[in-house]
Amino acid sequence: MHIVYLNGSFMPIEEACVSVTDRGFLFGDGVYEVIPAYGGRLFRLPHHLQRLQDSLDGIKLSNPLSESEWTQLLERLLQHNRDRAGNNNDQSVYLQVTRGTSRKRDHNFPAEIHHTVYACSNPIPEPDPAVERDGVSAITLDDIRWAWCNIKAITLLPNVLLRQQASERGAAEAILIRDGYAIEASSSNIFIVHDGTLITPPKSPVMLPGITRDLVLELAEQHGIAYREDNITEEALHSADEIWITSSTREIVPVTRLDDKSVSNGLPGPVWKTMLAFYRQYKDAVRSGNAN
Ligand SMILES: Cc1ncc(COP(=O)(O)O)c(C=O)c1O
Repeated sequence: MHIVYLNGSFMPIEEACVSVTDRGFLFGDGVYEVIPAYGGRLFRLPHHLQRLQDSLDGIKLSNPLSESEWTQLLERLLQHNRDRAGNNNDQSVYLQVTRGTSRKRDHNFPAEIHHTVYACSNPIPEPDPAVERDGVSAITLDDIRWAWCNIKAITLLPNVLLRQQASERGAAEAILIRDGYAIEASSSNIFIVHDGTLITPPKSPVMLPGITRDLVLELAEQHGIAYREDNITEEALHSADEIWITSSTREIVPVTRLDDKSVSNGLPGPVWKTMLAFYRQYKDAVRSGNAN
């Protein structure tokens, strides 16, 4: 049975209902997180909870739970859904906090806030061997989103429309261009490799500060891979030796075709292979309780 959490209770997903007056439903007035758990252990939980706090601060909404209450809730959720996860017990948690219900549809915040807190978990599928062998394709599109993309807001309509355009052109991702610079993708961060150096855009209000992105930079530092945080022009993107996209659900994926042209020789590159091995090592350490 698929068990979810809603406003203080665990219940079968079929029984979880939210009011039509919820501001998440009416305005997209809420934030979310996606947190992987390997072998039942939450991956980089303090980083995710800090980003959740930053997102809540960004929309001026109080945090309904303390760090230990979040931890307990998410661990219990994983336990409830243990039977649905495979032998390796890898699950991905989705959590969402909205500004709750109010009697009248009003843009102003309600005087009294009753948050809606929802969380669910799902098994993480095994990595697709075709992606590792061949990489994926991406297209570039204008970044039509708002100016506060550092907030992980549930209001994802621009991201949805951009991703749909990519899918309709047979691509796995849309890399978003703002003022001539590649910022990130519709649901992932971006890296390029240029002359052996790993480059990713610096954090800014127009980009989501990815937890996977930060870990990749930490691993580059730890293992002596040359890297820098720097703006990536559209031209630099198109002449990159390697392009990667990163996210908690996709991990590190090589982009081998961009706008219908091969990236280098059209195969996943050597720096990506090295980084993926370090990333997997880190995941294994989390699984065995030696990292978090
Ligand atoms: C727009 C956007 N950028 C980047 C990311 C990657 O973030 P993370 O590595 O924390 O999953 C996501 C993940 O959902 C995203 O939606």
